[in-house]
Amino acid sequence: MESQWLNAISPADFINNNKNFDVLMMKYRCAIREIQTKLEVLDDEFSAVNKRNPISSIKSRVKSPASIYEKLRRRDLPFTEDSIVKNLDDVAGIRVICPFISDIYTIANLLTSQDDITVLKIKDYIKAPKSNGYRSYHMIVEIPVFFTEGKFPMRAEIQIRTIGMDFWASVDHQLRYKKTIGADKDIEAIEAELLKCAQTVSETDCHMEEIKDMIGDFEKI
Ligand code: GTP
Ligand code: MG
Repeated sequence: MESQWLNAISPADFINNNKNFDVLMMKYRCAIREIQTKLEVLDDEFSAVNKRNPISSIKSRVKSPASIYEKLRRRDLPFTEDSIVKNLDDVAGIRVICPFISDIYTIANLLTSQDDITVLKIKDYIKAPKSNGYRSYHMIVEIPVFFTEGKFPMRAEIQIRTIGMDFWASVDHQLRYKKTIGADKDIEAIEAELLKCAQTVSETDCHMEEIKDMIGDFEKI
């Protein structure tokens, strides 16, 4: 059977000559803003009540056209707006960095209990870390965004992790994409060392949680 991909419009034509692609990316950016505002509101309220912030920082991005193209091509899916909306969960990406592991679950639960947020998928890589040591709480959510022609359900990937998990994942990402790791290097040994680091970070995260519990109510200190 002929690949669907062969029938699809070329990426350059699609991106450069297609106003609809820009409109679609704008819609994903709006979805990010809606979710980011919800997160900031939760952080503000928690901070006013509990005198500390459960969110250290929020980063977001809309997937680049090149990454969208690559992901669809890898899966042999057409490069069309419909295909992007239907097949890709992570065009809109939000990363929430928290001080403590318990903050991750607090934020996830508060956000997903809001009645305009629909949870489509959860991957808890904290309870079940990946074999390389990666830890993070991932959710695919859908949020309605109001545009001139009506309400659109927009999908976004939210990754919630501690500062420690983010430190590890950022360094892991840099090393993973470093093209200079040649055949002469012992990749397995490098991966084993990275796994050890992930375990050390995880132990420290748990230790930090214990210290938080020792301090107790932040208002009283
Ligand atoms: P993708 O096709 O990459 O989106 O994978 P998936 O659909 O199986 O999703 P998953 O939830 O496993 O991972 C999605 C995202 O999590 C990635 O794009 C990364 O941002 C992050 N991630 C997952 N695994 C790792 C890892 O081993 N190291 C790092 N640094 N990040 C990871
Ligand atoms: Mg991804």
